[in-house]
Amino acid sequence: MSTESDGVPAAVVARVAELRVLIKGYDEQYYLEDASDIPDAEYDALKDELLTLEEQYPELVEAGSPTQTVGVAPSSLFAAVAHRTPMMSLDKVTTLEEILAWGARLQRLLAPEDGSPFVCEPKIDGLSISLTYEHGRLTRGATRGDGRIGEDVTPNVRTVAAIPGELALGASGIPGVVEVRGEVYLPVSAFEELNRRQATAGLRSFANPRNAAAGSLRQKDPSITAGRPLEAFFYQVDGVSGLATQSSSLDLLHRAGLPVNPETSVVPDLVAVFAYCRDLESRRHELGYEIDGVVVKVEDRALHSRLGATSHAPRWAVAYKFPPEEQSTRLEDILVSIGRTGRATPFAKLRPVRIAGSVVGLASLHNEDQVRLKDVRPGDTVVVRKAGDVIPEVVGPVLSARPAGAEPWRFPKSCPSCAGPLVRLDGESDTYCVNSNCPEQRVQRIVHFASRSAMDIEGLGEQRVAQFVAAGLLSDAADCYRLQVLELAGLEGFGELSATNLVAAVGDSRDRPLGNLLTALGIRHVGGTVAAALASTFGDLDRLMAASEEELASVEGVGSVIAASLVRYFGSDANRAMIERLRANGVRFSAGEGPKLPQTLVGKSVVVTGTLSGFSREQAEAAIIGRGGKSPGSVSAKTTAVVTGDNPGGAKLTKAETLGVPVIDEQEFVKFLETGELS
Ligand code: IVH
Repeated sequence: MSTESDGVPAAVVARVAELRVLIKGYDEQYYLEDASDIPDAEYDALKDELLTLEEQYPELVEAGSPTQTVGVAPSSLFAAVAHRTPMMSLDKVTTLEEILAWGARLQRLLAPEDGSPFVCEPKIDGLSISLTYEHGRLTRGATRGDGRIGEDVTPNVRTVAAIPGELALGASGIPGVVEVRGEVYLPVSAFEELNRRQATAGLRSFANPRNAAAGSLRQKDPSITAGRPLEAFFYQVDGVSGLATQSSSLDLLHRAGLPVNPETSVVPDLVAVFAYCRDLESRRHELGYEIDGVVVKVEDRALHSRLGATSHAPRWAVAYKFPPEEQSTRLEDILVSIGRTGRATPFAKLRPVRIAGSVVGLASLHNEDQVRLKDVRPGDTVVVRKAGDVIPEVVGPVLSARPAGAEPWRFPKSCPSCAGPLVRLDGESDTYCVNSNCPEQRVQRIVHFASRSAMDIEGLGEQRVAQFVAAGLLSDAADCYRLQVLELAGLEGFGELSATNLVAAVGDSRDRPLGNLLTALGIRHVGGTVAAALASTFGDLDRLMAASEEELASVEGVGSVIAASLVRYFGSDANRAMIERLRANGVRFSAGEGPKLPQTLVGKSVVVTGTLSGFSREQAEAAIIGRGGKSPGSVSAKTTAVVTGDNPGGAKLTKAETLGVPVIDEQEFVKFLETGELS
């Protein structure tokens, strides 16, 4: 029941109470269980809502509110440690404009003639740590706890290689007792390795590197901590007098042998702070550890004491948080897709959600074990993550939001396409539809045959292949060469022109290099590299088909597994019959130079971002590489130009801007391909 305090609507009182309970629950998960049920951004939104209500109705503010406190009381797992000075939190902003507002507020609190540069530091997504050194020796390590009282994790901290047991001698100006603060984290590669190990041991995996770092440090048994390659960065030193600036504190930490983040930078004004934030955001996934923003601090420490702090955060620093890469959404269903080899892959059908600049509606769940490990169930609210250019991933369920009666998902027994049985062999993680006449497998085999890295037939994508298979025009790849303009022109979505173009594109593909044809056949384990090696060794398809398993295995890059797979493929009557029909339809079976494009882009590096109208991503890259250029996935100082289409990657554009790399649209790109010159 909610009570009405003077003049405050009952609904507000109730909501404030509810928000406090929710936030405290999530705080406990975060600090005590090293797990987080909801994405950071949603937690921040709850806290913002509470802050706004408390600002509107100050009579509701009370000391125990999560807006007035930091973290949670330490667990009973470790001894309690009182911090000499409280470990504070930071005020957060999410837009660059809000940084300006922060700057303006500072100026109002100070005198007009006061000014200071700023220090920008990456905001490490780990757990905060406080270390005490007495006469240069590490005597205590403590977590933040509730900011006043933390947990004594000294034995654990001693196992962290990045944390020196003794400060470097000669670090002048270090008094008898000094307290340093920073962040312990787990590098992304170590996090992935740890999760692999957890999975092999049948243990729960960690949702993110932060939880993994916290779970690794907060171990009752320090030998477990010792086995986790934790790292740390330090940014604060207390108990040392005469440090005039934040950057001199960092210098001192560095000289004392404590790791200081190399990305830290002193900048003259807020405009330079913006540039720093945008640049770091564009590189955030290249750092090897997770950061969730930038901490901006006033450089001049004399101003720190004049600015002071609120109950929970200093006024001289602010955290700019990057846009979230995790969101929660409803898992509407788990479905299974069938690939060209018959592999049945479960995937999540999500209520579409916007993350990191694009809308995500589907995400692979890889295989049966992955679904079980993640324990995601249809109807669940799930956390979805899309980091940078990486494929979206379902991180896990929000257990507190699980609807009553949500049942664990079971892998279907029959193929959604042909209704044949789905089979998982002992010791394998994948499940297969074993009916080689399955229509969906047929579709996927032909789609692969026509794809860019194979026969590169423009206009023959999944939708059309499915349409042609359903209309009985295609049953295997060789049928492509028999498609006729007249029969296509009668189909839905086709006119004479599109039919003519498609038939011409199919015709052009007859002349692709032998390596492409080999890739196109879709032989298990034979990708582009192996296919190219086989093509150059044997020179034509007949010689390759006649080769013994031993001869095949002696080709560079081909081992016994691939050789056996080739022999199996060419041993099948059905496959040989299809190959004969390819030959009869005029497909080139021998190596030799394919048609060569004018080499306009030699020495040039062109990055493509967003959707172009006339090129798929693969086609655009092929157009660049085919003309002698390079098309890497990220922008650097060596990039000649960035081509943008619809929904470009913000990080790439920002980076191009920062580095002064020209950004061109599709029209200019077409000219650039032809001439190699930027207008
Ligand atoms: S300064 C009194 N600098 O972010 C100043 N904090 O949201 C307190 N953090 O509790 C913190 N990187 O655990 C600072 N370069 C950095 C940081 C950083 C990560 C964490 C820290 C803090 C939290 C606040």
